Order: sequence, then structure tokens, then C-alpha cells
Amino acid sequence: MAEQTKIRVGVMGWPISHSLSPRVHGFWLNEHGIDGSYEAIAVKPEDVSQSLRRLSEDGFAGVNLTVPHKEVALACVDHVDAIAQRIGAVNTIVVQSDGTLQGTNTDGFGFLENLKSGAPDYQPAQGPAVIIGAGGAARAIVVALINAGAPEIKLVNRTRERAQTLSDQIGGPITVAAWDERATILSEATLLVNTTTLGMANQPPLDLDLSALPPSALVTDIVYAPLETELLKTARLRGNQTVDGLGMLLHQARPGFESWFGVRPEVSPALREHVLAGIIG
Ligand code: ATR
Repeated sequence: MAEQTKIRVGVMGWPISHSLSPRVHGFWLNEHGIDGSYEAIAVKPEDVSQSLRRLSEDGFAGVNLTVPHKEVALACVDHVDAIAQRIGAVNTIVVQSDGTLQGTNTDGFGFLENLKSGAPDYQPAQGPAVIIGAGGAARAIVVALINAGAPEIKLVNRTRERAQTLSDQIGGPITVAAWDERATILSEATLLVNTTTLGMANQPPLDLDLSALPPSALVTDIVYAPLETELLKTARLRGNQTVDGLGMLLHQARPGFESWFGVRPEVSPALREHVLAGIIG
């Protein structure tokens, strides 16, 4: 009888010890009884290209990329799909049967799926979205919202040039506002997203006056530690619907798992609990 080879996958980052991805994929491997592994792989920035080149010979079915490797990975893979190309970053690599590397980006998918599950009535096409921040996460979210039919994206970042560059590179219905205007541009928003690190444990909260935000607007945050940031708490207390950021992390992992292990996994309350225990403990 031919020996079944264990499917090997991992996440590359620098540092990597805080990554929750092994916990997410480990839960699903166990849930589906799959004999596979998902490893945390510490890769220094100067070693990314070489590590990716060796994936096939090292027996990997693929990897996820996390900070700070997502942009470099785009240039290292053999094929990049349209989404990753537009975002300018790769977070998921699948090793093809011929050993070549296929790169995609599932962050925007994770963002939209999280909203679909947490706020099923929200439709991106309903109206303008205000996005705070212009880093890698913002790029994925802006592309996802445009592809989902958002009529206008109001983008605001402390460093305005960075928001302008994002807008120039991605294109579409993006309006760049000045940091001082961040409270006033909320007046017609149907969605408000914090994509900055502000509000994370050990970081200052996002300083944003929500008075102009319509009560019907949905508010979400990419920060998930704490699960309810000051932004989400303030929004909830004034009556806005809110969705926390943990679901984005969980949902972005689903397409990769399906490609490598052949099963489309679900985000269940049990998975959330399991991952939350990893954040707290
Ligand atoms: P990522 O790629 O994970 O999104 P990043 O590229 O470091 O991370 O982006 C972090 C975002 O948080 C940026 O929009 C950053 O604003 P700048 O472009 O002006 O740096 C924003 N950010 C971080 N600290 C901030 C602060 N104290 N005030 C306002 N924005 C801040």
C-alpha cells in the first residue's frame, strides 16, 4: 500500500511567534481529521525569495505570508492572480503540480465574508465607505469594496501622500481626504473601517469623533485584540451596528485551507473560541 504523504503547509513571517494562523488551521485539520501540518516558519526578510523557491523541494503544498513578506512575495511567485496584483501583495501561495508557485490575496475576501456573516444586511453598493488608514490592510479592503460595487471610498490617512499613492495605484471611485477632515467625511457613510493599528492593546485609541456618522452606518475594525476596540464600543453605544476584526482573520484563511487540503472549512463559534483563547493566553 502506498504511504500517504502528510500535507505540509505553514505561515512565513518575521517575527512569527505571535501568528494565530497555526491555531486556525490546526483547529480545522483536527475538525476534518486531516493528516496535515501547518507550521509557523520564521523567515528573515532577506531570505524570503530563497525560502519560497525551496517550497516544492521541501515538500510544502503552499504557505501563507504575513508581515512583512506580503509585498516581496508578489515578485517571487510564478503566477499572480488579478486580485493580488491589484492589491500589490500576496498572502497565500499554492504550489502547483509542476512545482510553480501560484499567488493570491485572500485578505479582502476575509474582510467581506466577515461583514456578510456579522452584518448580513450590509451591501457595499448601498453607499460611501470611509476607510481610515492606507497600509497593506487598507489596500486589500479598498480593492474588495470596489469589486463589490461600493460607489465611493473616502480614504483618510495620517500621511496623506500614502493615501494618494494608494488611490493612484488602485484607481476606482476613491476620494482622498485630509487627516483633519476625518470626522466630517463620516456624514454620508454607510460603512466605517479602521485599518490602522490604533486601538490595539498597547497602542493609543483611534481619535475620531463619530458625531457626524449616520446611526445606520456599519462600523468595523481590523484590530481584534481587544475584540471590542474603543472605536467599536463608542459606535455600539451610540447605536451603530458593529462587527469585530477577528472574523477577517478567520475568513481569510478559508480559501488557502481549501486549496491545500481539499476541504472548504467554516468559521464556527468553536473556532472563534479556540482562537480567542490563543489571544488571551
Ligand atoms: P499594514 O500594512 O498592516 O496595514 P502599516 O503599513 O504599518 O500596516 O499601516 C499602518 C496604518 O496605521 C497606516 O495607515 C498608518 O498611518 P501612516 O501611513 O501615516 O503611518 C496608521 N497609523 C499608525 N500609527 C498611527 C497614529 N499614531 N496615528 C494615525 N495613524 C497611524
